[in-house]
Amino acid sequence: MAVGIFDSGLGGLTVLDAVAKRMPDLPLVYFGDNAHTPYGVRDADDIYDLTTASVAKMFERGCDLVIIACNTASAAALRRMQEGWVPSDKRVLGVFVPLIEALTERQWGDNSPPREVAVKHVALFATPATVASRAFQRELAFRAIGVDVEAQACGGVVDAIEEGDMILAEALVRSHVDALKRKMPRPEAAILGCTHYPLLEEVFQDALGPDVAVYSQANLVAASLDDYLRRHPAMTGQGAESMFVTTGNPKRVSQNATQFLRRRIEFVGA
Ligand code: DGL
Repeated sequence: MAVGIFDSGLGGLTVLDAVAKRMPDLPLVYFGDNAHTPYGVRDADDIYDLTTASVAKMFERGCDLVIIACNTASAAALRRMQEGWVPSDKRVLGVFVPLIEALTERQWGDNSPPREVAVKHVALFATPATVASRAFQRELAFRAIGVDVEAQACGGVVDAIEEGDMILAEALVRSHVDALKRKMPRPEAAILGCTHYPLLEEVFQDALGPDVAVYSQANLVAASLDDYLRRHPAMTGQGAESMFVTTGNPKRVSQNATQFLRRRIEFVGA
């Protein structure tokens, strides 16, 4: 029984960590497409091709359910995958919906018509491809009305994190927050719409100020996965072993992942 967690690189480890804390007995197959990260600067076809190639390998490793713990792939490829690519006995879920349900104070799976919600001014920080897709605004419009979303494409942040250069990553976050504030001086909430960004959550919060509620995905996705597996217990799949798989150089990726999660992580090649 294994659930797959996919990301273009190391960012999905923030989701893996939250899932492992919440469900310690659940075997997890983590797959990082580190050879092709970042996805955030690629076009939608390229992101679709890379994501399907990786998820196919996760199915081969015994996962029946794969969480796309990458907003860029969720935004640019997920809908197309669900519409024609995912085999009928497999499931692929994204990371947007749990976040939007939290922001709009909905219960999981509440499909009632869109309604007014408490927050009116929302800042979205994400990769250039996620921002360009407008997937966040589309999903939000299904659930809420009257919310003004200002999106900031945070170029360079994922590359800096993947390289382990947290000083550069912090400087970039501060400049992206400044740029956002020039467009929307007083957001009430900020969405960290990239799974790499929780590593810099304190920097985002500091730069935004204490009055802004910062929404980060890892715990929300873990809670919604827990709920999903209670309702669909058969979806935990055949694999019984937790593992970390990468298309990149396993030694180098293991070193960066260990630094990233502050615990020993050993990757194997895809
Ligand atoms: N961590 C991913 C996301 O959530 C992707 C980053 C990238 O590869 O650009 O968007």
